[in-house]
Amino acid sequence: MKNKWIVKGIEDYQKNVPDEIHYRCRHRPTCSEYARQAYSRYNFFYASFLTTKRLLKCNRLFKPKYDPVPIKYSKIVKDARKIIRDHKNKELAIDATCGNGHDTIYLSKFYREVHSFDIQKLAIKRTESKLYYINNVKLYNDDFNNIPNYNLKADLIIFNLGFLPGSNRKVKTQDYTPEKAIRKCYDLLNDDGIMIICSYRAHDGGMDEFNKIIDEIKDLNYTVKEKYKNKEALIVIKKESHN
Ligand SMILES: C[S@@+](CC[C@H](N)C(=O)[O-])C[C@H]1O[C@@H](n2cnc3c(N)ncnc32)[C@H](O)[C@@H]1O
Repeated sequence: MKNKWIVKGIEDYQKNVPDEIHYRCRHRPTCSEYARQAYSRYNFFYASFLTTKRLLKCNRLFKPKYDPVPIKYSKIVKDARKIIRDHKNKELAIDATCGNGHDTIYLSKFYREVHSFDIQKLAIKRTESKLYYINNVKLYNDDFNNIPNYNLKADLIIFNLGFLPGSNRKVKTQDYTPEKAIRKCYDLLNDDGIMIICSYRAHDGGMDEFNKIIDEIKDLNYTVKEKYKNKEALIVIKKESHN
């Protein structure tokens, strides 16, 4: 962990500060939690810059909002976000693997309704803890293979494969036939809908998972973009319009 002693100092502060002071912060996470995350993730100078900026924003001139510490996303996630932003139909989106909630929160800015699934309770809890001031997200602690049971019709569906970052990595998408779930979820897309799949081929078993997916969707209209010397792949499936 970076800045160990500063982080410990903030944790001690968090344990001792009364709730009425702690929750006086305008944004979420609270300023101390923001600082804790910034110092544990980044070097001293960048973390201090971020924390100072956040403290300056914690006043009545700024509307309360979910204001997390910025994260450095992989290239395929950045590309996935561009697709999410640019997609023209923005009624309902499904996040099939909500994990730490980053994709869900991003979708919630653009789509009227977001339905997010994860097989792990921990992932649902982590996502739920980030939904301050966000009320267009519904969470389901369920397997992505069961998504068709919920009678949803979507404009966009995302599968961000792999394991839950910051967990013991025991639960991995590849152990739950994601290729079958993807195929079934394709039928839930509205005309002109899209499905985005972030695949990490350098992970143990990741290439096998990617190949199974490609085999399953070979008759659909899809593209694959490779990044980081082919270690990551972004698969985009487009549902043809019937007009
Ligand atoms: C790479 S993470 C997703 C990252 C997440 N979208 C985010 O923005 O933080 C992969 C997630 O897939 C979940 N997962 C694994 N198998 C699953 C299954 N059968 N159904 C639903 N979620 C599953 C894991 O629990 C993990 O949280």
